[in-house]
Amino acid sequence: MTTHVPVLPSLEGKAAIVTGSTQGLGSDIARALTACGASVTIVGRNTEAGAAIVAEIESQGGKAIYCPTDIQEDEQIDQCIERTIATFGHLDILVNNACSYDDNGVASTREQWHRTLGVNLISAAIFAQKALPHLQRGSCIVNLGSTGGKFGAAGRALYPASKAAMLQFTKNLAVTIAPQGIRAVAVSPAWTWSPSVVRLSHNSRTRADEVGKLFHPLGRVGDGLEIGRVVAFVASDAASWITGVDIPVDGGFSILGPDQGISPRVWFERALQDK
Ligand SMILES: NC(=O)c1ccc[n+]([C@@H]2O[C@H](COP(=O)([O-])OP(=O)(O)OC[C@H]3O[C@@H](n4cnc5c(N)ncnc54)[C@H](OP(=O)(O)O)[C@@H]3O)[C@@H](O)[C@H]2O)c1
Repeated sequence: MTTHVPVLPSLEGKAAIVTGSTQGLGSDIARALTACGASVTIVGRNTEAGAAIVAEIESQGGKAIYCPTDIQEDEQIDQCIERTIATFGHLDILVNNACSYDDNGVASTREQWHRTLGVNLISAAIFAQKALPHLQRGSCIVNLGSTGGKFGAAGRALYPASKAAMLQFTKNLAVTIAPQGIRAVAVSPAWTWSPSVVRLSHNSRTRADEVGKLFHPLGRVGDGLEIGRVVAFVASDAASWITGVDIPVDGGFSILGPDQGISPRVWFERALQDK
């Protein structure tokens, strides 16, 4: 008889900062990292939510602190890194997860472009720049991409541009820091059960899966912990030979073409039936 034992990568003794971990995927990434043994700094502006995530992680036996931080402010990034090192003694993992979805497509104002790229791309790059002097051989920076940054979508411009740029930045960063034995990896989710999908589906997981199954061959939307577990793996020593690439964690979303994986024969049959 075999007993199913979930094997988690070990992050024992490592300390991580996860930006945008007061809610959504970031909080699930923090949950996954702490479940693997890492100590985690929760980062975001919502103090109530940040304190609640820390309390929850501690109640599960994990180690976490909350550091209120606006990642658009350089001094607050410095304070966050300093506090992490003062508390945990070192910094080994940075997860650039925070994002803004503010996007009015080609009608977006210059200010909107600056704000969305500022949070999604520039603050991630500055966080990496400021973290690097504290990282050591074996450390890893994980940048969140998105299927949204890989395909055209009417009415959107800022968020997809920021996510596409994040993947390119990850490659340049990876090559730059490789000589120091530090890795940079991108992880790109598709639709994941999180506040934005909860809102769009009017808080119905059934409705989210019903719509999601059209685009995700695995037939549903993803769960935050499914993203978190992959982030934990890529940040761990188990992934020591992976750098610079983008890892899609998307239920197969990115392997489909615009025909949604349905053959021309079926499309023609459907078109003829509709006549
Ligand atoms: N959800 C999905 O289906 C999906 C799909 C593909 C990719 N992703 C990627 O996954 C990541 C998380 O997405 P999500 O949907 O979970 O996001 P979300 O629910 O909107 O959460 C965004 C997080 O970013 C933080 N944040 C925003 N601006 C900030 C700032 N100036 N300073 C510090 N923190 C800031 C927010 O914290 P505060 O409000 O506390 O500041 C919040 O914790 C993003 O990189 C996104 O592109 C998500």
